[in-house]
Amino acid sequence: MAHNLLQGKKGIIFGALDANSIAWKIAERCVEQGAQIVLTNAPIAMRMGEIKKLAEACNAPIIPADVTSNDDINNLITKSMEHFGGKIDFILHSVGMSMNIRKGRNYMDLDYDFNHKTNDISATSLHRLLQTCYKLDALNEWGSVVALTYIAAQRVFPDYGEMADAKSLLESIARSFGYHYGKKNKVRVNTISQSPTRTTAGSGVKGFDGFISYAEKMSPLGNATADQCADYAVTLFSDLTKMVTMQNLFHDGGFSFTGVSAEVIEQMEK
Ligand code: NAI
Repeated sequence: MAHNLLQGKKGIIFGALDANSIAWKIAERCVEQGAQIVLTNAPIAMRMGEIKKLAEACNAPIIPADVTSNDDINNLITKSMEHFGGKIDFILHSVGMSMNIRKGRNYMDLDYDFNHKTNDISATSLHRLLQTCYKLDALNEWGSVVALTYIAAQRVFPDYGEMADAKSLLESIARSFGYHYGKKNKVRVNTISQSPTRTTAGSGVKGFDGFISYAEKMSPLGNATADQCADYAVTLFSDLTKMVTMQNLFHDGGFSFTGVSAEVIEQMEK
């Protein structure tokens, strides 16, 4: 499906850990559509080695960066501009991690040091990234920044725990910074709210199998896959969506606006 929608564009992709990662599919799709990319992930994720395969396939350098480090983000943006020989057109923020969930702590038993770390990695990092780009004037006019989020920011999903709050903050930062960056040089900032998807981060949520099959039954089109998310992200990085900014965009097969589905009612009547 080569339309060259991103021909001549240059972007940074955060968060490709392995072939299941949503960012992995988005990286592949951006390159298929003519973009040049830089890949980045936390130094620790680098050591697992998988990302090198993607880098080879995409002919992309890897510049490690921990999203909680100002220095790392500054270095990433500066080096990316050097690599591209100019400014950047698009950035994918596909980063999330809950320390409390990882340590088996539920929402009523949060450790606040862990909570602070969760919010820093999963939400404040988008602000840090945008602020660094803003100060370095690193993004071209009509540039596009997309972060991935989940509907637990709006509705309660009990086992999503503290990540629900982190996603609310992430979406708010996209809106607030979207205003300022739009005014400054027409840079667009949006979030994609994706269906549950089988990945390392996704599978960390308790009861994920039930979660994913419930969403499948509740969505008139079924769950959106990571590949379909990649297609959607490409449109947001392209010039076909220039006037879309400060939005939280549901990419979920209709889940978010379905009260109940025939399949779920049928299940309840059993
Ligand atoms: P993933 O586990 O493949 O990706 C998460 C990435 O975050 C990994 O590459 C990890 O190395 C990176 N990361 C964690 N800490 C970091 C740090 N300190 N610095 C830099 N990078 C760091 O899982 P997935 O599902 O592809 O997650 C990507 C995004 O999509 C996340 O924001 C997630 O919350 C979101 N999302 C996932 C859904 C799902 O069901 N899998 C549904 C909706 C949104």
